[in-house]
Amino acid sequence: MVVVCFMARNRYRLGVAISESEIAQVRAATDIVALITEHVALKKSGRRWSGLCPFHGEKTPSFSVNAEEGRYYCFGCRVSGDQITFVREILHLDFIDAVRLLADRAGIELHEDESAGPARKDKADCMAAMDSAVTWYHERLLNGADARGARDYLRARGIDGEVARQFKLGWAPDEWDGLANALSLSPKVLEGAGLGFVNKRDRKQDALRARVIFPIFDTSGKAIAVGGRILPGAAAVRGDGYVEPKYKNSPETMIYAKRRTLYALNWAKDNIIKTGEIIVCEGYTDVIACFMAGMPRAVATCGTALGEDHFRVMKNFAKRIVLAYDADNAGQSAAASVYQWEKSHDVDVAVARLPKGSDPAELAQKDPEALREAIANAVPFLQFRLERVLDAANIATAEGRARAAEQALSVIAEHPSDLVRDQYLLMVADRLRLDVITLRPRVEAKVRGVANAPVVVVSSQPRRRDDLPRPGQEALRLRLFFPDSVSDRLIAPYFVHDVQRLVFDGLASGKAVSQVIDDLTATGEHDAAAVLSELSVGELDRDYTTEDVSAVVSQLLRAAVAAALKDIERDLRAQTIDPLVAMATIRDVKQRLDLLSGPHGSRSEEELRDWLLSRQSAATPE
Ligand code: UTP
Ligand code: MN
Repeated sequence: MVVVCFMARNRYRLGVAISESEIAQVRAATDIVALITEHVALKKSGRRWSGLCPFHGEKTPSFSVNAEEGRYYCFGCRVSGDQITFVREILHLDFIDAVRLLADRAGIELHEDESAGPARKDKADCMAAMDSAVTWYHERLLNGADARGARDYLRARGIDGEVARQFKLGWAPDEWDGLANALSLSPKVLEGAGLGFVNKRDRKQDALRARVIFPIFDTSGKAIAVGGRILPGAAAVRGDGYVEPKYKNSPETMIYAKRRTLYALNWAKDNIIKTGEIIVCEGYTDVIACFMAGMPRAVATCGTALGEDHFRVMKNFAKRIVLAYDADNAGQSAAASVYQWEKSHDVDVAVARLPKGSDPAELAQKDPEALREAIANAVPFLQFRLERVLDAANIATAEGRARAAEQALSVIAEHPSDLVRDQYLLMVADRLRLDVITLRPRVEAKVRGVANAPVVVVSSQPRRRDDLPRPGQEALRLRLFFPDSVSDRLIAPYFVHDVQRLVFDGLASGKAVSQVIDDLTATGEHDAAAVLSELSVGELDRDYTTEDVSAVVSQLLRAAVAAALKDIERDLRAQTIDPLVAMATIRDVKQRLDLLSGPHGSRSEEELRDWLLSRQSAATPE
């Protein structure tokens, strides 16, 4: 093959997927001020519009929009771009998806070329399958004779036809392969979308059966996953002793990353932006209850705990985050992380005081006004934790007050700001009738105790770039400079080194590099921040051909697969897995590794990639 400059190929490929003239048309049809105002309040000053930058925390506006040029620029964090980059960064979309979204919005029909990359095609197939599946499940719920039980159940919970339509709820019939058959899904798409699999008898089988379906959409409203709930009367224990979980959710797939997804954000975002507040619930039904109680700004995590990535998403939409969890669960959220997130993402986390043992869904059905009040009167996270300690205390005796003080001081000491700590200290002193002067040194001693602990963990020497695996570095470089050309072929599990993994996750979030570096720094990931800074200012020392890219990808893949095989071998020795299955897996994987450099290498690459992805989703707790 002739050596071509990869940069040129990159542009060419983009041009093929959506033509330059259509991209220009989309830009011209999008009023940048109207677009940005959906996310940020802008004020006109002279010929410019300005507001608070959505990409970094600030109190005085340094974000400026030029309507005529169709560009924005932030004097604070120096991000800049046009309509398309704005959508990419704020909604974490890739270039093509951002163009598609803007085209939809402007009513422009794109003429995309399907040949634009096999992985993009796979992704599109999975999205299409998920979309039809959601429609099919929905139709079954509304009209199926076998869905009567499901409809009755939902209605008993206050969810009538109108609400079911609003959330596109569905019913997965009590059949082995109802969906796979009705939609004639290929095994590849069935598994790729997480909607089913091929069973031991080589028959297609649905992932969900006899469950009420809660479809999950991405921010732009496209279906990416489903969650399914069993009906209360259904047998929860099967003949073979397997206990059916209450909810079963789609696995992690190429179109669905749990840790970044918030259920219902697609419907809630307008109200979230308008009110500046986002309500976070634990369950799908809680979200629906909040909407029905007149608060259409609720979201839920999908079968995972609230984490860093959720905050990255949320902070683009609102600065106030209200946790509407069952009281016990809310109190147990890891305080240190919550304060860390508040600080690094410039948001406030408050907690709604729900009656003990009740979640928003239950409360809304009994007393919607009480739910609205609990949300409106949500208190700062620290105050919530303190109240729980103080409410449980016996303040009638001196010993009881001393014990309560001890616990309260521990709670206060977790907060990183001394000003905040001092205010709560006053409150505790007052409640427990103790002298604040004697409490203050105690709290500070606890703080030092906390602050001293991590010192041991911090590595004394910054990690040098040369210590990091080379394929990972090369791949990150490609991801950084040619995102559109390699992003389809690189996935997180390929990066087995934790520092490189963090950098990759940051880049994959679609954020501006400087923002990713800031985020890494803010969360204490200094090694990763340094690696990315260094890569981002570095030069490409040569042109890359497609072969070069493939070589990098397959080296990286080989290393990741080798690491996974090691894990399996370790499990095998520890006898924690079925030896027959393990041996078969090892044999299969090795066979594919052998084929990787052959004529059908791309097929092996895909299979190995899927295997690594499935291992990762199996490892994430449901
Ligand atoms: P809950 O058990 O609180 O369910 O789990 P819920 O939302 O209150 O459901 P209802 O009201 O009984 O119908 C909260 C969330 O945890 C996840 C689901 O995302 C659920 O919405 N979950 C729960 C699972 O992923 N698997 C389970 O088996 C249970
Ligand atoms: Mn519930």
